[in-house]
Amino acid sequence: MTGSIVFEDVWKVYRQGRVEYPALRGVSVEVRPGELIALLGPSGSGKTTFIYLAGGIETPTRGRVVVNGHDITRMGEGERARWRRRNVGIVFQFFHLIPSLTALENVMLPMILAGHPPKPERRRRALELLDLVGMRDKADKFPSQLSGGEQQRVAIARALAADPPLILADEPTANLDTENKRRVIDLLVEANRMGKTVLYTTHDPELASKAQRVIKIVDGRIVD
Ligand SMILES: Nc1ncnc2c1ncn2[C@@H]1O[C@H](COP(=O)(O)OP(=O)(O)OP(=O)(O)O)[C@@H](O)[C@H]1O
Ligand SMILES: [Mg+2]
Repeated sequence: MTGSIVFEDVWKVYRQGRVEYPALRGVSVEVRPGELIALLGPSGSGKTTFIYLAGGIETPTRGRVVVNGHDITRMGEGERARWRRRNVGIVFQFFHLIPSLTALENVMLPMILAGHPPKPERRRRALELLDLVGMRDKADKFPSQLSGGEQQRVAIARALAADPPLILADEPTANLDTENKRRVIDLLVEANRMGKTVLYTTHDPELASKAQRVIKIVDGRIVD
């Protein structure tokens, strides 16, 4: 179903040479459409790994990952990349904007890749999204000309660009001052009000307190 995440006994084992490290150890969890969820856990517990699997950036070593009703463990790499463009918006801890593109162009890029919305609407929609995150007046700046908080707001606009039903955010306030932190929190809550399923990881109590539900992870396992 649109905006849902289902993990069924998911294992992710990273291999470095001869050493194996199980980052997720049998995770089963369900996120329903429209939920606002915080994924909490200590450093190294598997939060980023969870985001990468739910977002189709990585595939599990074992188990099934079904997102928006699509079993991404059955997709090939190309299919998964195409799926991702329409199905999920990801906000990374370190923004990951493309340095050679302006804020406006960064927000338009997912629309071009997804082929949605139609071409004549893309610029207007990107400007609307930049307006939503309070960055319209800096639409023509490059990432290097923006503060961390400004870059993160552009990254949120980009995550919303192709209008995906699911937003995943990995410690989206980790590198921000109080003012920008508040704005980013408000934007994630607003995205959820717009009907999107929003799942974020955080170490920040204020951001954690906004969630409707908390999922806790320790040593790669979900705990109650
Ligand atoms: N590419 C990789 N190769 C090997 N081990 C990895 C890799 N990525 C993550 N790990 C290991 O998997 C475990 C989980 O990592 P993950 O990044 O998911 O943790 P996290 O909960 O996001 O931590 P943090 O709060 O510090 O961001 C860690 O022990 C980490 O060292
Ligand atoms: Mg992490």
